[in-house]
Formats: sequence, structure tokens, C-alpha cells
Amino acid sequence: MMIEGEKRFDRVWWTLRIGLGLGADQGHQRLLPSVAVLGVLGLVLIFFTGASVGAAAEAASPGSAGAEKRATGAALNTPSSFDGVVTKNAQKMIVQGRRIFRFETFGSEAFWGDTLQLHQAIAGEKNGGVGAGVSPKTALSVGLKVDADALPDSLKQQLREGKVDLDDPATTLALLKLNSVVGVTGYFDKNGSIRSMGIQCALCHSTVDNSFAPGIGKRLDGWSANDLNVGVIVSLAPNLKPFSDLLGVDVATVKKVLNSWGPGRYDAVLDKDGKAFRPDGKQAGTVIPPAFGLAGVNLHTWTGFGSVTYWNAYVAVTQMHGSGTFFDPHFNNKDQYPVAAKSGSGNTRGKPDLVTSKLAALHFYQLAIPAPKPPAGSFNKDAATRGKEIFNVKGQCATCHVPPIFTEPGNNLHAPSEIGIDSFQADRSPTHMYRTSPLAGLWSHPKAGFYHDGRFANLREVVDHYDSFRGLKLTEQEKEDLVEYLKSL
Ligand code: HEC
Ligand code: HEC
Repeated sequence: MMIEGEKRFDRVWWTLRIGLGLGADQGHQRLLPSVAVLGVLGLVLIFFTGASVGAAAEAASPGSAGAEKRATGAALNTPSSFDGVVTKNAQKMIVQGRRIFRFETFGSEAFWGDTLQLHQAIAGEKNGGVGAGVSPKTALSVGLKVDADALPDSLKQQLREGKVDLDDPATTLALLKLNSVVGVTGYFDKNGSIRSMGIQCALCHSTVDNSFAPGIGKRLDGWSANDLNVGVIVSLAPNLKPFSDLLGVDVATVKKVLNSWGPGRYDAVLDKDGKAFRPDGKQAGTVIPPAFGLAGVNLHTWTGFGSVTYWNAYVAVTQMHGSGTFFDPHFNNKDQYPVAAKSGSGNTRGKPDLVTSKLAALHFYQLAIPAPKPPAGSFNKDAATRGKEIFNVKGQCATCHVPPIFTEPGNNLHAPSEIGIDSFQADRSPTHMYRTSPLAGLWSHPKAGFYHDGRFANLREVVDHYDSFRGLKLTEQEKEDLVEYLKSL
């Protein structure tokens, strides 16, 4: 199977070979028996691809962009070559990785459903669960999203006509049966009653484009779930004892912590160090970052815990509570991680291991997700062009945010004092540092604020912070231009 761009390269390649009089590769000669056929085909291909003599000349010079395209075409033409093996592997990994990112629970239903009984709270008493249940309206209001592609046409029609009861938890269960709730899988028994539920990466790292209705549309993998209130959702679980036992606090305190995060935030270290609030009393969750534009970036997470795949294992096993292996002796440090040192979660060997075999494809898929481009008209182009100059020169931003990856190639960590903020979150990481955020796609996640805890409500506040902390003496105009540039990345 070829992807669209590769098909085009392939066509261009054939056109060029014919144009240059090189004829076909040996393996294809039997497919194209005569020069006459070649000639006709060449004309047709030239017509469709618009390949020019200039492009032919470019392709003929080794090391040029044209030569690169030729290599792509040749690789796909000879599936038995190692080039072909690599291409096929890449395609397979993307397909597998996408499936894992969207649909793999890693067995986490044993925790969220079987243990916490969260599915019971979603179903509500009328549907065999507990409490009032979660209606689609409530689900959407806490930031859950619906994948429109998973809805049958008949249901879409009923939704358009306002014939679906969005106040009834039974409708939420129907949506779960259709596997349309992004990042959540319901498990149903033979009678159609919900018996458990698990979660996926997509819960926090996907959204939808709202093309059908607010909260309902096509999936956007890698985009951070800015609206999602993870804490409130978890706090609905009938059984929060596993958290209160682990943290050594009562259930009311667990609920208070879960309710403190707010939309677009989650605390992925709480179960390790038990630090539920900052010393100033503010919430301790971090902004859910995007999982796009990560290729070429060395360390990941706000505090540089490790690589993408390190973090994937960490999250799948210790946060999503999937069944699998996670190993990092840093968490045996009693001073920094008292809770983990006691629970032993830095050396988790869940059986069966449903995580490790999925790490490669999952990693590959995330690296394949580019940062989305800002929509036309969402920023002022002239101002952004001027802002780029500020970013690179007077603002000194590019010394750390090195374009085009916008983080340092190499060790991309900084002491809190280098960026003028407190060390609370950095000190929760083995690095005690903050990682230079890759900035592409900033425009797509404006809601939860900027910096690891969202302390700056908007980009202008970020710029003002750097201006005063680093003594940049930017004029009002320069600050505005810099913001427009940040919106254009
Ligand atoms: C409950 C919400 C939640 C779920 C589920 C979740 N994440 Fe995350 N993810 C976060 C938060 C919050 C962070 C930031 C953590 C930090 O820096 O302390 C994060 C960070 C990341 C990062 C680092 C991005 C960067 O800026 O470099 C990657 C990559 C990532 N997650 C991938 C995944 C994958 C893959 C899965 C599924 C195995 C997953 N996440 C599941 C909330 C979640
Ligand atoms: C000394 C290195 C350094 C310099 C110089 C620097 N940054 Fe940063 N930047 C960082 C680090 C580290 C973070 C992560 C902060 C955190 O995790 O809270 C960051 C975060 C950001 C963010 C927030 C990203 C997000 O997703 O929330 C923006 C925006 C940003 N920087 C823009 C700039 C601009 C504009 C400049 C120039 C005026 C600049 N930076 C200069 C290191 C730097």
C-alpha cells in the first residue's frame, strides 16, 4: 500500500526515467514490453504529473531533492529490497501505533472499571449502576469527546433532528457501545449492561474538530485535551479507596485533590511523591501537553523525565493502570518519592504484560504526528514576520527554543532559576529541571494556559515574563509582534 505523496513521487520517477531515456527497472520490464508503450505512458504521466525538464535535471544530480524523491520511488518499486522492507515496516507501525493510541486500554479496565467501579457512576442507578449517571451533556461538559466517524448515519440524522435524549445516561452507554467516546472503552455483558471500562492515551491526547457539533467530530490525535477535567471524572468513581490507601489520606481529601486540577490538567507524579498541593496552596497538576511535533526532541514531559517511550511505559503502567512492566530505580528514592518507594511502583511487573509489545509502534506513531499548522487568518502575518526577528535576535528566545524543533538539540533542560520560576515541579522529577518546551502548534492549546502549570494565562503573559526576567527591554510593538510569531508556529 502506498500513501498518496509516495504514489506521486513514484509517478514522477517513472516519468523522469522515461524522459531521460533510461527505460524501466529490470523487474518491471515484463510489465512494459515495448518502447512504444513506454512512450505513450510517458506522455500520459507527464500530462498528469506536470513533470518538467527542470525537475528531470534536478533528479539527475546526486544529493539533490530530486534524488531523494527518486530513492523513495525506487524503494517502493522493489518490495523485496531492504528499502522496501523499511517502507513496509513504517506503514505497518503507523497503522498499529494509531490503533494502540486510540483504542488500547492495556487492560486498564481492571482498575477503572473492576476496582474503582467508574462505569457504575456513568451508567447511573436506572441502568444498573449507582447515582444519577452521566448524561451525554454532562460528559461533554467535562470535556469528553465523541468520534463522529463511529456514529452510524441513522444516529447522526436523529442527532441533527434533535431526537436523541442528551440528558439520559442510557444515551452515554449507547455511545460507549458504539466505541465512539474518545479515549474510553466500555465493556458490556450479554444482556447489554455495562460491566467495566478502560481508558486510552487518546483520552488526554486527542480531541475532535467539532465538525458535527461542539465536542463531536473527527479525531485529532496528539492534540491535548484542553477541556478535559480528568480530576472531576475520576472523582465520580464509587470506590476511591485505592487512592486513599496509597496516599494515606481519607477519601474526602482524595476528592479535594482531584477537584483542584481543573480542565486540561492532571498530576502524573502524585502517586509517586504524594505532593497534592504546591507549598503556596495552589493545585499541583500539570497542563496536559500535546503529543504532536515530538520527533527530534530529546527529553519529554515538562520536567524531562525521559524519552517518549520511557514516558509511554510510565503512563500506561503506573497512571492508566494497564497491566505491564515499568522499571526505573529513581522511584526507590525515599526522600523524593516516599509513596513510590513504599508501593514499589518503580519496579512494576504486571502479568500478563500488555504494554511492552506495544511500545515500539506507539512510539513510532507519536513521532509521526506533526504539529498542526495554524488556520489562515488566525495571526497577523506581517507582525509574525517581524516577531520572528525578535524571537531570533533581541528576545534571545532561539538560544533555547532552537528552530525548527524549538528546543535544544542535545540536552534540553534548564534549572528553574534560568527561566525565572520556582522549582516545585522540577523537584518532582529526577532531573530537578524544566525541559525547553517545543513550541510548534502552541495556537492549538490556548485554554489551559502556558508553562507546566498553566501559570501564564496567555502568550502575552509569557512574553512579559521573559521581558522582565531577562531584562529584554522589548517595546510594546515588539511584544505584540513576538506574540503573533508564537501564534504562527
Ligand atoms: C489522564 C491523562 C493522560 C493520559 C491517559 C495520558 N497522558 Fe500523556 N501526559 C499527560 C500529562 C499531564 C503529561 C505531562 C506530564 C508532566 O510533564 O508531568 C503528559 C505527557 C505526555 C508526553 C510528553 C509530551 C511532551 O511534551 O514531550 C507524551 C509523549 C505523552 N504524554 C504520551 C502519552 C501516551 C502515549 C499515553 C498512553 C500510553 C498517554 N500519554 C496517556 C496526561 C495523560
Ligand atoms: C533559558 C532557556 C529559555 C529561553 C531563553 C527562553 N525559553 Fe521559553 N521555555 C524554556 C523552558 C525551560 C520552558 C518550560 C517552562 C515550564 O515547563 O514551565 C519554556 C516555555 C516556554 C513557553 C510555554 C510553552 C507551553 O507549551 O506552555 C513559551 C510560549 C516560551 N517558552 C516562549 C519563549 C519566548 C517567546 C522566549 C524569548 C522571549 C523564550 N521562551 C526564551 C526555556 C527558555
